[in-house]
Formats: sequence, C-alpha cells, structure tokens
Amino acid sequence: MRYIVLPFLFLFLCTSSSAKYMDNHSCNECHEKIYEEYQTSHHSKGYFSDTLHRKIADKVSMKKYDCAVCHMPMADNLNDLVTGKARPDKSNKTHTDAISCYFCHTIAYVRKAHRFNINTKARQAENYKPTLYGRLSNPDDNDKHSSASNPVYAKKVCMGCHSHKLNDNNVTIFRAMDEKQNSLGCIKCHMPEVSGGAEKMDKRTRGQHASHRFLGIHDKVFRKTGVDINVSASGESLSVVLTNKMEHPLIIQPARAKFLKIALIRKGKVVWQNFIKDPSEDTQGYFAYHFRQGGGKVIIPAHATEGRVHNLYAKESKTLHYKIPESKKGDIVTVSLYVQLAKSDCTKAIDLEDENLTRPQLMKKVILKL
Ligand code: HEC
Ligand code: HEC
Ligand code: HEC
Ligand code: HEC
Ligand code: HEC
Repeated sequence: MRYIVLPFLFLFLCTSSSAKYMDNHSCNECHEKIYEEYQTSHHSKGYFSDTLHRKIADKVSMKKYDCAVCHMPMADNLNDLVTGKARPDKSNKTHTDAISCYFCHTIAYVRKAHRFNINTKARQAENYKPTLYGRLSNPDDNDKHSSASNPVYAKKVCMGCHSHKLNDNNVTIFRAMDEKQNSLGCIKCHMPEVSGGAEKMDKRTRGQHASHRFLGIHDKVFRKTGVDINVSASGESLSVVLTNKMEHPLIIQPARAKFLKIALIRKGKVVWQNFIKDPSEDTQGYFAYHFRQGGGKVIIPAHATEGRVHNLYAKESKTLHYKIPESKKGDIVTVSLYVQLAKSDCTKAIDLEDENLTRPQLMKKVILKL
C-alpha cells in the first residue's frame, strides 16, 4: 500500500510531531546525479562555506543570525538562531546543509508578506516516512520517502526566498520578483532538463531530470546569456542598447555591481573611455544598490534608512548615449559588461582576502568595427 494519503491527512492536524530529517547526503543513495549537481550549486553554500555571506552576517550581528530563514532554513533551532539564543553550529547537519534538498522538497505553501515572504513547511507525520513534493507526474514511492506532485510547490517554490527583502526600517534590500510572478520562468532557465533519470535506477524510464546546478552569476558561460548588447556609432555619438532578457532585474543582490567598460580605439590606441578610474563615474553604465543611514553612505544595508538602486529591470531595454570624439572609419569600439561579486566598497566594511570577490570579472564583450 502507498502511504501518500496518510501524511496528507496528518499535514495540518498534527502540531508537534515530525518525521526524522533526511540530510542532503542521504539523497545520494538514489538521486546520485541530482546530488552531484546540487553540490556544485550555490544552494549548497551557506554560513560555513560562503565567505562573503559569513563576513557580512557577522558584521551585521555577532549575536543574532536572522539570515537563517533563507540561508539556513532547515535549522532545527531556527527560532533560537534568529533571536540570538544560539549560533550556527558546524557539527549540526541541519545547519551545514544550507538550502537543503529536504527543505525545498517539503515546502507546502508560500505566504506573501511585507518584509519577506514566508515558506510554510509540510508537517510530517511521526513514525511515517516523510512525503517529498515535486513535479513529476505520478511519481514512484520508495522505502525512504513517499512522493507527491504538488502544483503549489512548482509555481511558488522560488518566491519564498528570492522575491524581496526589506530591513527593519522598511528599506528595500532587494526585490527580484514582482507580486504576480510565479516560479515557472525561474525553473525553466535555472533548472533546464538534462539527460539521466530522476533516480539512479530510472525505474520509470523518464530519461531526463531537472538540473540542480542552478547556474547563475558564477558560471562563465551561463552569465553571458542574460543581457543583449547592441552598439552603434556615428559622428560624435555612441549608443549602447542593453536588453535584459531575464525575468528579474540585472541587480538582485545588494553586494553586487555590474558595469560597462566602453573604449574607442584608434590605430591601437584608446582615444576615449566611459570612465577614467572608477566605473561608477559613468552613472548610466554602473548598476548597483546605494544605501544611506542618517545622511551618511553605508555599505551594509541591514540598518540603512534610505536606499536606491540603478537597475535594468526584467525584460527592460535601455539606450545609453555617450558623446565621443568624432568617429572615423577604421575605429574600433569595445563594450564589455563586468560583474564584481562584491563591490569595491565592501572591502572598506569587511576584510575580504579572496580578491576574486572584488576583482571585476568579464560577463560579455561586444566589438564594433567602424
Ligand atoms: C528573504 C530571504 C533572505 C534573507 C532573510 C537573507 N538573504 Fe541573503 N540571499 C537571499 C537570496 C535569495 C540570495 C541569492 C540571490 C543572489 O545571489 O542574487 C541571497 C544571497 C546573499 C549573498 C550573496 C552570496 C554570494 O556569495 O554570492 C549574500 C552575501 C547574502 N545573501 C547575505 C545575507 C545576510 C548577511 C543576511 C542576514 C543579515 C541575509 N543574506 C538574509 C535571500 C535572503
Ligand atoms: C531509497 C531511494 C531513495 C532515496 C534515499 C531518496 N529518494 Fe527520492 N525518489 C526515489 C524514487 C524511486 C523516486 C521516484 C522517481 C520516479 O517516479 O521516477 C523518488 C522521487 C523523488 C522526488 C519526486 C517527487 C515528485 O513528485 O516529483 C523528489 C522531489 C525526491 N525523490 C527527493 C528526494 C530527496 C530530497 C531525498 C533526500 C532527502 C530523496 N529523494 C531520497 C528514491 C529515493
Ligand atoms: C530557502 C530559500 C531558497 C529557496 C526556496 C530558493 N533559493 Fe535560490 N538561493 C537562496 C540563497 C540563500 C542563495 C545564495 C546562497 C549563497 O550563495 O550563499 C540562492 C542562490 C540561487 C542562485 C544563484 C546561483 C549563482 O551561482 O549565482 C540561483 C540561480 C537560484 N538561487 C535559483 C533558485 C530557483 C530557480 C529557485 C526555485 C526553484 C530557488 N532558487 C529557491 C535561497 C533559496
Ligand atoms: C530567461 C532566463 C532567466 C529567467 C526566466 C530567470 N533567470 Fe535568473 N538568471 C539568468 C541568467 C542568465 C543569470 C546570470 C546573469 C546575471 O545575473 O546577470 C541569472 C542570475 C540569477 C541569480 C544570480 C544573480 C546574482 O547576482 O547573484 C539568481 C539568484 C537568479 N537568477 C534567480 C532567478 C529567479 C528566482 C528567477 C524567477 C523569478 C529567475 N532567476 C528567472 C537567467 C534567467
Ligand atoms: C532550491 C530548491 C531545490 C533544492 C535545494 C533541491 N531541489 Fe529538487 N527540485 C526542485 C524543483 C523546483 C524541482 C521541479 C523541477 C521541474 O519540475 O522542472 C525539483 C525536482 C526534483 C526531482 C524530480 C526530478 C525532476 O526532473 O523533476 C528530484 C528527484 C529532486 N528534485 C531531488 C532533489 C535532491 C536529491 C536534492 C538535493 C541533492 C534537491 N532536489 C534539491 C527544487 C529543489
């Protein structure tokens, strides 16, 4: 007999009971490929493995770790972490597992809220194996868990954490999804179908599964595909058309900066550039969040009282205009889009020994020959 019905009945009836937590590694036994993909993804990274996250979290507070609701959502003492009664613990699997497999696959509902949305986990019945949600039609059960397809899960699963976040002063720290947006687009781009069954034996001969690499800004090939760049020049004017093809803004992370470096090259020499020293000199081509607190500029947004962002919104196209020295036949214009995973300013607020975080990394380059 299948156990699907029972856990569903118990779902909202039980208050304190719960099935045992199945850690990430326990999935490897049957979902080898998915486990391997997940291990390379940023969802497997958290307080103990993501330097940038840990340094900012410690800077915000050495007592409370309220980042846990999204960065360590499976913690068995979540309330204690958020209120400062406990600290992240390296020997606790529900802490080191970060955005864990089990967590994502037991989200039952996502509630919209002002500061950030809330993930509601399915209550699992005690003494029964847990039910894991997904989107396979008619999924098979196994001796470790029941399986159930859940439409709420597929449509809303990303917006519990990725939608938006405001600080205590109502200042927006990030906003990546609009009110009506669902998760289907996110899944399409970030979890494309790849070959191999959903579990090792591929009992149902599905032949394909949704990739769990969650490629993003850290992948050199994938990050080229988010923005189109079109360049044209005539006389003293240069136009750059940027088109954001993604279903979220270009900047969805307050630590990041993305910027353009444009050069006009004549006979091998740079005769004009859109900035001299710092990319933020070009206010059109520098995309980032800026925060202030009591009139002064701040880097860490947690306590900011004001904030603004220069962004390229989902599906938005923007034309940037530049005045250049009279262009001539044979000139070359290069337009490069760069990302700094952590803005230069971050080094002032936290010491980052990993220079990969602040060093500008090329995302995409376009060359125009006149
Ligand atoms: C509402 C959910 C939520 C909360 C609360 C939250 N974050 Fe995040 N955080 C995210 C999401 C989603 C991402 C991934 C978005 C991205 O990379 O653009 C992220 C990414 C980050 C990154 C970038 C990671 C990297 O290395 O690329 C840093 C740094 C970060 N968060 C710091 C924090 C800190 C510090 C706190 C607590 C003070 C916190 N976050 C609280 C949702 C949240
Ligand atoms: C003993 C083997 C085994 C283990 C261990 C296991 N699974 Fe599964 N899982 C399966 C099988 C078999 C299926 C059905 C696949 C099918 O129908 O093609 C499945 C299906 C699923 C589904 C699909 C449900 C749906 O409705 O789409 C999800 C999600 C899932 N497992 C997650 C996990 C996670 C997360 C873990 C670790 C916490 C895990 N599994 C551990 C064997 C296992
Ligand atoms: C429980 C909260 C949570 C949920 C649910 C969640 N994410 Fe994330 N996601 C995060 C956090 C936190 C990070 C950043 C982790 C880090 O780098 O430290 C992140 C990072 C990412 C990244 C960045 C990868 C990179 O290398 O730049 C992508 C892409 C992503 N998530 C996509 C998704 C998609 C698609 C969904 C829905 C299927 C989803 N996430 C659901 C919390 C979540
Ligand atoms: C049309 C494809 C597409 C869709 C739809 C899409 N993304 Fe992305 N996303 C990308 C690409 C390409 C990148 C990397 C380039 C970049 O960040 O500029 C990216 C980057 C990201 C990042 C990392 C950004 C950073 O700076 O850390 C996160 C997190 C993310 N996406 C989450 C989501 C979520 C959540 C959704 C659904 C609302 C979504 N994506 C929808 C293509 C897409
Ligand atoms: C950030 C949330 C998230 C995390 C973390 C996550 N998954 Fe998934 N998983 C999904 C989503 C969303 C789907 C459905 C994709 C679809 O329908 O195209 C899915 C699908 C699956 C499926 C069904 C295969 C398929 O093609 O639909 C299995 C099995 C699965 N996940 C197992 C795992 C295992 C094992 C881990 C950890 C190693 C894991 N998941 C981590 C969100 C997540």
